[in-house]
Amino acid sequence: MKNIEIRVNPPYTVMIEKGVSRLCPVLLKEICSVGKVHIVTDKNVGALYLAETENALAKAGFSVSHSILTPGEDAKTEASLFGILSNLKENGFDRLDCLLALGGGTVSDVTGLAASLYMRGIRYVTLPTTLLSMVDAAVGGKCAINFGGVKNLIGAFYQPSLVLLDPDYLSSLPLDIYREGMAEVIKYAMISKEYADAFFSEENLPLWIEKAVACKGEIVSADEKDTGKRRILNFGHTFGHAIEAASDFSLSHGESVAIGMCLITKAAVRRGLCEKSVYETLTGALKKYGLPTSFSGDIDTLLPFIREDKKSKKDKISLIVPVSLGSVTVTDVPTKEIADWLTDGTV
Ligand SMILES: NC(=O)c1ccc[n+]([C@@H]2O[C@H](COP(=O)([O-])OP(=O)(O)OC[C@H]3O[C@@H](n4cnc5c(N)ncnc54)[C@H](O)[C@@H]3O)[C@@H](O)[C@H]2O)c1
Ligand SMILES: [Zn+2]
Repeated sequence: MKNIEIRVNPPYTVMIEKGVSRLCPVLLKEICSVGKVHIVTDKNVGALYLAETENALAKAGFSVSHSILTPGEDAKTEASLFGILSNLKENGFDRLDCLLALGGGTVSDVTGLAASLYMRGIRYVTLPTTLLSMVDAAVGGKCAINFGGVKNLIGAFYQPSLVLLDPDYLSSLPLDIYREGMAEVIKYAMISKEYADAFFSEENLPLWIEKAVACKGEIVSADEKDTGKRRILNFGHTFGHAIEAASDFSLSHGESVAIGMCLITKAAVRRGLCEKSVYETLTGALKKYGLPTSFSGDIDTLLPFIREDKKSKKDKISLIVPVSLGSVTVTDVPTKEIADWLTDGTV
């Protein structure tokens, strides 16, 4: 078993091991004695894993209830959030009871937000089931729903009490969803030297997951509220989010981030800020996992979305620019120069 402490406030542990989800009843007893547990999952994950999770908890003496959300981004709605809160109230939950997120990043995002709001905060535990939620969403305590057409507009920083990261869940993950997670894994290799060394030396998914948790854990504990160092996790995302939105979400988040990473890296090479070999290594890794590496649309369509980015300041956009393999720098670029960066990244 690998235990990684995430040193935020309050701190919590990510326990990583094949089969660790089976320890959920025992470990939950330490968090909320034997009280009530409300499982939040989505229809797909629920069909595969809800019954076994629920039965194990009931057998251990917990009183168990559940909410089943629509899969994908549709899980992150007001309706889901208030549905969970109503279920908690109907089942007489109090502050000593616990929520359990069983699913990908969408499920844990809405569960964390519900946990932060109910009675001003009850505890929650997550069982991430996608590669992306294991390497990214499970760490850092950001939780949110989408609102008024804006992604993650209503949210909080609210840490789980425990994360049980069981790679066995990946056995049922569809290939396209797996690839989404690989885009984020490759992102870690671009922003951390230690991660790059691990990633490029051998194909070892369990190790990559473990190191991603440690890497993100280190970054978020240095900057829990996302005002400084945490911004490097946004590598590939400033352009990526715009690509995703401009495609009207026909390109997935992982595909868009893959393209976003290539655009910014190619632009950095063109500007003499990093070696061409970094770009070649990045595109090689992305191609290996079936991810796209170039943008075929019109860059003018991206500009309005980049300007709207939540992370942009008034007239400047923070770009995370590669310097060498496993190292990036944050550069504030005047908004009017963004088009030039995009051009450099596409030609
Ligand atoms: N909080 C954070 O720090 C953070 C970080 C990154 C992403 N996110 C959020 O995470 C969300 C994306 O999460 P995701 O990529 O995990 O997507 P997801 O939760 O939508 O899951 C993707 C699909 O895979 C299915 N699925 C999940 N686990 C499965 C399994 N083991 N077997 C079979 N099918 C399974 C789901 O039902 C869904 O259809 C986005 O909303 C994003 O904003 C949050
Ligand atoms: Zn991402």
